[in-house]
Amino acid sequence: MTARPSTPCSLTRFLIEEQRAGHLGPDLRLLVEVVARACKSISIAVGKGALGGVLGEAGSPGAASVNVQGEAQKKLDVIANDVLMEANAWGGHLAGLASEEMDHSQPITDFGVDGLPRGDYLLLFDPLDGSSNIDVNVSVGTIFSVLRCPEGVAVPADEHYLQPGTEQLVAGYCVYGPQTTLVLTVGHGTHAFTLDREIGSFILTTRNIRIPEQTAEFAVNMSNQRHWQPPMQAYINDLLAGKTGPRGKDFNMRWIASMVADVHRIMTRGGIFSYPLDAKCEAKGGKLRLMYEANPMAFLVEQAGGAASTGRGRMMEVQPTGLHQRVPVFLGSKGEVEAAVGYHHAHD
Ligand code: AHG
Ligand code: MN
Ligand code: MN
Ligand code: MN
Repeated sequence: MTARPSTPCSLTRFLIEEQRAGHLGPDLRLLVEVVARACKSISIAVGKGALGGVLGEAGSPGAASVNVQGEAQKKLDVIANDVLMEANAWGGHLAGLASEEMDHSQPITDFGVDGLPRGDYLLLFDPLDGSSNIDVNVSVGTIFSVLRCPEGVAVPADEHYLQPGTEQLVAGYCVYGPQTTLVLTVGHGTHAFTLDREIGSFILTTRNIRIPEQTAEFAVNMSNQRHWQPPMQAYINDLLAGKTGPRGKDFNMRWIASMVADVHRIMTRGGIFSYPLDAKCEAKGGKLRLMYEANPMAFLVEQAGGAASTGRGRMMEVQPTGLHQRVPVFLGSKGEVEAAVGYHHAHD
């Protein structure tokens, strides 16, 4: 007799079981479902590429559309942002949302549709991470983070989002690659769901991801080397020195230039991802954004047994001062993140 294949566990079933276990309430569960549904739409738009007319820059020729970060927006940055906004506006679970692509947060009452139900949560997202990879058919993704709207705040403003990463209730990313994979934490481990394109559902494919504590693989944009500060110079020099150097092993390097894809590799086989301070981004505090890039990734990585740091302190303990605040980032295999942090402390 052939063994009966075990029933696949859909995201819906997983979330209901998490709710029964007391790990999240019904509103938060439905909020995650809305975000996952939006990610499915974005996945379809990304997959159409040139056929869907979604490649290239947003705006008109000679009048590029630029976001609050000063970056030229791609069409897909704008499409993904609209999909997430629209899906969540009527979902009824949010008090407000904020995005990389919008100057300020938007309270739900600001959507111009009367009678929209208001929920208790704040959603932050990077609608399309890895914009420079869209047009070249390399993996991109969506990153999101959920906070609670502070008690007694009817119409949340930017300041109400400025909560440290330790306050996150949910974090996740969806990588649009050869497979579309949603990686999620509600504070009880980090789990991966693969989109079954035939049935249109996310199916649990890895429960309780564990990032190996040690690694011999690092991710950094090496073209910035000459702009780095002394601790980073020292750290990477020692990695490059290989077996006969102070670290005593040969390191491999990978850099996809989509944070989601680089982090997903680390979730799968370990490694360290870093975007340190350099002379180009120093004045802004770093390149990557704390609220919708670094913090959600830090929560996911910690829940998978890894670590996330600014190089000087735990990422999730940074007290945010701005919605679009930037930070230096070191995250992934715990032992390696600790080693990188050690070089920073040695230079203090
Ligand atoms: P985004 O596309 O959301 O603006 O983010 C891009 C980020 C991140 O995904 C990636 O790790 C990094 O920028 C790449 O930077 P470089 O182009 O300097 O390598
Ligand atoms: Mn961008
Ligand atoms: Mn990004
Ligand atoms: Mn982005």
